[in-house]
Amino acid sequence: MTIEFRKVTVLGTGVLGSQIAFQTAFHGFDVTAYDIDEAALTAARTRFDGLATVYQQDVAGADAANTAATAAGITLTTDLATAAEADLIIEAVPEVLGIKRDLYGKLGGLAPERTVFATNSSTLLPSDIVDSTGRPDRFLALHFANHVWKFNTAEVMGTEQTDPAVFAAVAAFAKAIGMVPIELHKEKAGYVLNSLLVPFLNSGIELAAGGYAEPAAVDETWRIATGAPMGPFQILDIVGLTTPYNILINGGESHKKLAAWLKENYIDKGKLGAATGEGFYRYSA
Ligand SMILES: NC(=O)c1ccc[n+]([C@@H]2O[C@H](COP(=O)([O-])OP(=O)(O)OC[C@H]3O[C@@H](n4cnc5c(N)ncnc54)[C@H](O)[C@@H]3O)[C@@H](O)[C@H]2O)c1
Repeated sequence: MTIEFRKVTVLGTGVLGSQIAFQTAFHGFDVTAYDIDEAALTAARTRFDGLATVYQQDVAGADAANTAATAAGITLTTDLATAAEADLIIEAVPEVLGIKRDLYGKLGGLAPERTVFATNSSTLLPSDIVDSTGRPDRFLALHFANHVWKFNTAEVMGTEQTDPAVFAAVAAFAKAIGMVPIELHKEKAGYVLNSLLVPFLNSGIELAAGGYAEPAAVDETWRIATGAPMGPFQILDIVGLTTPYNILINGGESHKKLAAWLKENYIDKGKLGAATGEGFYRYSA
């Protein structure tokens, strides 16, 4: 039996949830977005309006009319029972295991049996969450990258209990909303992207923090010798320095030293990356 998704709910309307909801609605799906209170829903409306403008600049075929219709077409709710009535539920709530498990616990009792649950978690494994869902065969990870309309990978990663037909249906759904599905055959912390990116960025920081080469020289080497458009420090500036700092400070001794270097030379000086106008490089507004 083929599984088809028409009605999609996104849980959490923050940075990623709002983007996933908008991207899915833009591709013609019936979308409901759920958040905890009216203030969060008001913020979601503002995010959707902002995305409408960004899509007009970045996405082929996006114009004032169809992006306004996309934003207006998303149903917003604080009622979990309404949110649960979907073929596919994509969860993008805070990266806190307790919050996610609690939510799946409630959702499991509310959603129809057919409903598939997908988590957008970046650092938790689906097997950390699966037993709270009450439907191990219909649960997996669908991991988007920030700026989903442009950086359009969708990493699909199940547990050993995920039904292969559910996995295939979610990968097909990702394609239908303009993503490139990246299928993982088994669970891996960091998926494909962060398994490559995090060690790469750390190696760059190690070279500069160790006094071997300036950040700009590290980036230049990488760009010229590999043809890649950006080196590690250009990428770090886009990501923002806070996230890598938080990852490094929770690591072993050598990683803690790199965190201290980031803090002393950049974070404490307000150089947090491109969003603040300066990180390893300066940016004009
Ligand atoms: N920000 C990124 O670049 C990024 C990229 C990929 C994946 N992710 C993942 O997406 C998820 C969300 O991250 P984010 O950056 O969008 O977070 P965020 O803090 O911007 O948004 C979280 C949203 O969840 C809502 N929320 C809080 N508690 C809730 C609950 N109990 N039920 C429903 N909604 C609740 C908040 O009101 C908020 O709107 C995390 O799992 C994160 O790992 C984030």
